[in-house]
Amino acid sequence: MSITVKSMNKQFGQNNHRVEALAGINLEITDGDFVSLVGPSGCGKSTLLNIIAGLDQATSGEVLIDGCTVQGPGSDRVMVFQESALFPWLSVLDNVMFGLKLKGIERREAKEKAHEYLKMVHLSRFTHAYPHELSGGMRQRVAIARALVMDPKYLLMDEPFGALDEQTKILLHAELQEIWQKTRKTILFVTHNIREAVQLSNRILVFGTRPGFIKKEFTVPYSRPRSEGDQNLVLIERAILDELREEIEKVMREEVDNDYNFTPGRLPWHTDRDLGSNI
Ligand SMILES: Nc1ncnc2c1ncn2[C@@H]1O[C@H](COP(=O)(O)OP(=O)(O)O)[C@@H](O)[C@H]1O
Ligand SMILES: [Mg+2]
Repeated sequence: MSITVKSMNKQFGQNNHRVEALAGINLEITDGDFVSLVGPSGCGKSTLLNIIAGLDQATSGEVLIDGCTVQGPGSDRVMVFQESALFPWLSVLDNVMFGLKLKGIERREAKEKAHEYLKMVHLSRFTHAYPHELSGGMRQRVAIARALVMDPKYLLMDEPFGALDEQTKILLHAELQEIWQKTRKTILFVTHNIREAVQLSNRILVFGTRPGFIKKEFTVPYSRPRSEGDQNLVLIERAILDELREEIEKVMREEVDNDYNFTPGRLPWHTDRDLGSNI
């Protein structure tokens, strides 16, 4: 059981306005994989996730989920976005129960399940709070519980921690590792943060740009939970950074005027910076 992407291309717009977002994507994701997608802004990471989610269509090529061509969204795949988009007028508990009720699950059972997943994200004390009463990190944890309660096979996360401060991110990394260990969900995770990718995943796809393509794949063969600063991880972070640097400088060069004297290698690079998001 898996996600398979075969020779997939995606273009937006027509003729002169055509943007080649993705070209020649081939990918095989197997059960239990935690795959991170990293790459400069605009390299098609969100587009790939949207196509796998069934929210958008490939221009050519094939996307198969467990052997079947993707026809549209399905309950086997749930997205978590950077902004969690909880319903502000519903309590935390009702937000998490919402999808279950839509599925026709009886209230008592839905409530029980919602409690179970709120416990998993350590928010049991806040079931009756409303979204505006929570911090950004807590809101993302509600969004994760809301996604998990549907018991999807695939969790598609598009920069879920991108808007959070460093401290909160560290807590959520630990929490997501714990969740992965308990549920062994297959997770596709888009991030700008190399350290985050290396910390959480067993596979990391580095994207190149214009058009977006998979430039290189890294595997992180170490057991989880992992500790920050582990020398083995730092080595992988550096290798990924080297791969990405070239792509990000390419984007920068295209986005500035010709009279701007761009010197390659002059950008300050840190693996825990949110690369690419500010260019
Ligand atoms: N709906 C759209 N219409 C036109 N162009 C789009 C649309 N969505 C994305 N693009 C373009 O496709 C490319 C890839 O975008 P995206 O997948 O959002 O990149 P990333 O998530 O890696 O930053 C970009 O050049 C972007 O401008
Ligand atoms: Mg994106």
